[in-house]
Amino acid sequence: MDIEKEKNMWDQYWKEENEEKPSLKKKITFLVRNYFLLPETIYYLRKNFINGTFLEAGCGSASTFAKLKNSNRKLIAFDFSLLAIEKLKKNPYVDEAVQGDIFNMPLDENYLDGIWNSGVMEHYTREEISVALKEFKRVLKDNGKIVLFWPSCKLPTSWLIDFLIKLGVDLPTAGWNPRKKDLKNLLKEVGYKNIRIRTSYTLIHYIVVAENEKNS
Ligand SMILES: C[S@@+](CC[C@H](N)C(=O)[O-])C[C@H]1O[C@@H](n2cnc3c(N)ncnc32)[C@H](O)[C@@H]1O
Repeated sequence: MDIEKEKNMWDQYWKEENEEKPSLKKKITFLVRNYFLLPETIYYLRKNFINGTFLEAGCGSASTFAKLKNSNRKLIAFDFSLLAIEKLKKNPYVDEAVQGDIFNMPLDENYLDGIWNSGVMEHYTREEISVALKEFKRVLKDNGKIVLFWPSCKLPTSWLIDFLIKLGVDLPTAGWNPRKKDLKNLLKEVGYKNIRIRTSYTLIHYIVVAENEKNS
């Protein structure tokens, strides 16, 4: 993986996103994300992240923060795109904005109660994902949780994803297309416990919830 190339690609994406007049493609993407995907995402995050310090690893526009923020949750926005991070520094729902890479996070060990993301993991290969999951374990407290929204072409709706992409909706294409059991095996191998994997009601992604088992 050429991380600089990937980062430049996302910088370009967020540069265009910050432009004043949104294109039709951006408007469709906004509607799909906000009205179709977001409600279920918020439901799972509120349910699993009750109290503590939580970080979105690859936060982009941090679209969930406004609905998650309360006095029990410290919310950290984390992304390798400086453009995304600079913009989020002005967001009132973001407690901290950190620029960094999910493979090498500039954070102390045992710092976080939870990590989540959506539309990030599937860009990478199985080997790269394994490195990122180990890095999440390092910065998570014992029993800290991950909640990952993970699109996969192994779902019966891959035709819908292809159709939406053809319409111009920005949905990720995958570097690794695991089945549920492949994901479960990887998470066990890396050292997570209480692994639950569901298919979202939108049938677009898996919802992966797991806990850190520190001494594994
Ligand atoms: C699909 S977008 C996330 C959208 C986000 N859920 C939202 O609500 O806007 C993926 C984000 O992950 C970030 N990203 C991808 N790979 C990353 C990496 N290795 N380290 C940190 N951030 C990464 C990209 O810069 C991008 O902002």
